[in-house]
Amino acid sequence: METKLFLLILLLAFIMISGSFSATFTFENKCPYTVWPGILTNPGVPPFPSTGFELQNRASQSFNAQGWAGRFWARTDCTNTEKFTCATADCGSGQIGCNGAGAIPPASLVEMTMNGGANRDTDFYDISLVDGFNLPLSVTPQGGSGCKPVSCEADVNSLCPTELSVKGPDGNNIACKSACLVFNQPQYCCTGQFGSPTTCPPTNYSKIFKDACPQAYSYAYDDKTSTFTCPTGANYLITFCS
Ligand SMILES: *[C@@H]1O[C@H](CO)[C@@H](O)[C@H](O)[C@H]1NC(C)=O
Repeated sequence: METKLFLLILLLAFIMISGSFSATFTFENKCPYTVWPGILTNPGVPPFPSTGFELQNRASQSFNAQGWAGRFWARTDCTNTEKFTCATADCGSGQIGCNGAGAIPPASLVEMTMNGGANRDTDFYDISLVDGFNLPLSVTPQGGSGCKPVSCEADVNSLCPTELSVKGPDGNNIACKSACLVFNQPQYCCTGQFGSPTTCPPTNYSKIFKDACPQAYSYAYDDKTSTFTCPTGANYLITFCS
């Protein structure tokens, strides 16, 4: 009897450590247009079931993943003439699937690490505008105690200074670059002598992003106010344009 109990505990411990609790990720498109979510899995973790797909206005789609880590974003204004290309957040694969390619900045990102922390029992998630912004998005944990939703609901494109803006064919801003991308200077990229949390303060440009979306990362060392956690086992709703 005791041996059986011991084996059961061992099995449960193994399941928890290996992250075998599958989580459901639901993607929902509240944009008044079609988007094409892209997914990049970090090295060394199990792949996500999709690397990119089409999501029409008001549509939603769910996937199951376990022990996953990586990032989500959404491509806009995609066309498939000779090859698949998108006006914003393209991954350059030439296909709907990103197949291991990440978003070409600027792109609003959702970053996720399941089964993190010392006991591998914590999910970490955030919204990052470190690579710029293309559309509003949010992460809403479903279930799990003390889990907080995180969102970047502001239309940063309308607040984007000219020197950072990406314009569409009709002259409207369709995305907003980070200052690091545009100026490639250490104080904006947190490199060189600015390469640590204590030596890379917010800048006038990162503040534009932070003021618009206080819960999102606005530059590389913006950790304090931008990282969220949830006990592993929750499901997640990723919403675009909300
Ligand atoms: C940010 O600061 C730089 C350097 O002082 C200045 O050249 C730039 O015009 C400022 N931009 C904004 C949007 O405030």
